[in-house]
Amino acid sequence: MRTKHFLSATLALCFCAKVYAQMIDNEHAFIKENMEFAAKQCSLMLQTPSKGKAVMPHSLTRNGQQAKGSIYLWTAGFFPGTLWYVSEYTNNKDLRDSARVYTEKMEPVKTFTGNHDIGFMMYCSYGNANRFVPDSRYDDILIESARSLCSRFNATTGTIQSWNSFRSWHGDETYDFPVIIDNMMNLELLFFASRKTGDRKFKDMAVSHAEKTMKNQVRNDYSCYHVVYYDKNTGKAIKGETAQGYADNSTWARGQAWGIYGFTMVYRETQDPRFLKTAQRMADYYVNHPGLPADKITYWDFNANQNGYTPGIRSNANNVVTNYRDASAAATIASALLELSTYTKGKKGKAYLETARQILHSLGSPAYRAQEGANGNFILMHSVGSIPHNSEIDVPLTYADYYFTEALYRYDRLLNGQPLF
Ligand code: GLY
Repeated sequence: MRTKHFLSATLALCFCAKVYAQMIDNEHAFIKENMEFAAKQCSLMLQTPSKGKAVMPHSLTRNGQQAKGSIYLWTAGFFPGTLWYVSEYTNNKDLRDSARVYTEKMEPVKTFTGNHDIGFMMYCSYGNANRFVPDSRYDDILIESARSLCSRFNATTGTIQSWNSFRSWHGDETYDFPVIIDNMMNLELLFFASRKTGDRKFKDMAVSHAEKTMKNQVRNDYSCYHVVYYDKNTGKAIKGETAQGYADNSTWARGQAWGIYGFTMVYRETQDPRFLKTAQRMADYYVNHPGLPADKITYWDFNANQNGYTPGIRSNANNVVTNYRDASAAATIASALLELSTYTKGKKGKAYLETARQILHSLGSPAYRAQEGANGNFILMHSVGSIPHNSEIDVPLTYADYYFTEALYRYDRLLNGQPLF
């Protein structure tokens, strides 16, 4: 009798191990197929003409023409970054050479101080270049970029100023010290610069900015304001509004994505449990939200067209009734959740991993992934730039592709039991 039980338990274990191994194989096959597809789209993208200074793939125009931007557009670093992830995974030499060429086009941006976006621009391009093919020239360019970003730090507010000004959607009021949740993403460049130079100044500014954002931008339910206006003379946070979300009090999906990703990264850099808690609660908001569709790809805003949420009078959100999805927010969140799952034990960590897996499978399906050679050679369809500005609605966006390929790259490493960084 005992032998019989032992045998059936052993058989059950063998069966489970076999099913598990098959599942991992399937996931690897899924990642490989998507990365190979991404490599084909990137190769086609590299063959599309550039016009003058418009050299970096960005999106499509309203009439379906490819829209490229200059190296000073906030999205300029994403195409080089995508090339790094895809070439690293597929070991494609031509794409790696192009990653280097497109990264090096970005060098003049190192002195750019016109807004806060230099972190996105330089860390997605040069940051990845330095990670995959380390080079002291890249270190120098990144450190100079970090210095440029620091020039926007204000000791009174304790934050980096995102934009030079922001005109409220409600009327004619213009705010002169706006900070947006997106700014969390720029801090990675500062942590890098502190590590490389041994100068704490960069890290101190990043931590101060993250603390103020946690206090003033993240709401009690762990959603967040897109924009917070600070009084630069007193340092006080005056009020929260939106620029790209539906309403001031609504949850703009990509803002939530920047928050989850940003606080997860700040936890990685600081090991401070306050940042981990914030990242987890912001992630829980997404993962457990009753309004999240079954395929886990968020609507562009969690509260669009709902009672209790009113766009400012000047906002184009007043004119849009379709609840568009935003693949770019979902891709960013998938990448963030994969990292966050490695810092989170038990059921919660498993839920983050499972949600990331579901997002990636949805994005890799024909519902979101383009046909080869279509979609302006971008990988993903169905992202939203800014509905309030009536700009880039239901289009491909280069950052959706970047975070999708980053997430696939991370997922592969996670399944292999390799560290993500
Ligand atoms: N950083 C601008 C955006 O998320 O659209």
